[in-house]
Amino acid sequence: MRSRKNRLRFARSKIHDWGLFALEPIAVDDIVIEYIGEQIRQKVADHREKIYEKSGIGSSYLFRIDDDNIIDATKAGNLARFINHCCDPNCNAKIITVDGQKKIVIYANKPVAEGEEVTYDYKFPIEEDKIPCLCGATACRGFLN
Ligand SMILES: C[S@@+](CC[C@H](N)C(=O)[O-])C[C@H]1O[C@@H](n2cnc3c(N)ncnc32)[C@H](O)[C@@H]1O
Ligand SMILES: [Zn+2]
Repeated sequence: MRSRKNRLRFARSKIHDWGLFALEPIAVDDIVIEYIGEQIRQKVADHREKIYEKSGIGSSYLFRIDDDNIIDATKAGNLARFINHCCDPNCNAKIITVDGQKKIVIYANKPVAEGEEVTYDYKFPIEEDKIPCLCGATACRGFLN
């Protein structure tokens, strides 16, 4: 993975509401952006998820880093919170440890063209309560979870 500052912007997406777009070509293995947010425990995440649902926040900005830790980008996040899921994505999310602290980095697994939407596979666990996937990929699995 190579770290360099890629120019990005959020804009309306064909997949869902807002998405994140590359303002310049991004090479394979480049780190696109870190997924920043507040690190919270599972119990807090469960509680917040209910509050967010009740308050009508239709999108989830919770990203699991391990069994008991979640990054919540709902109120304290960066542009990475706008990245939509795709079943055939151009990026991957990777958990790395820096100075004992786990971080989420999004890096390109395919060349990303200027103007292209940046996506990764959310890899949500299978659940009964299905979220339809609107990624539009030929290989779309139909659901996020
Ligand atoms: C981290 S947000 C992504 C940004 C979101 N589009 C927005 O405008 O805030 C995650 C939410 O976006 C929606 N989403 C992302 N990818 C999707 C997809 N492929 N199909 C349907 N909804 C998607 C879901 O509501 C999900 O909970
Ligand atoms: Zn899909």
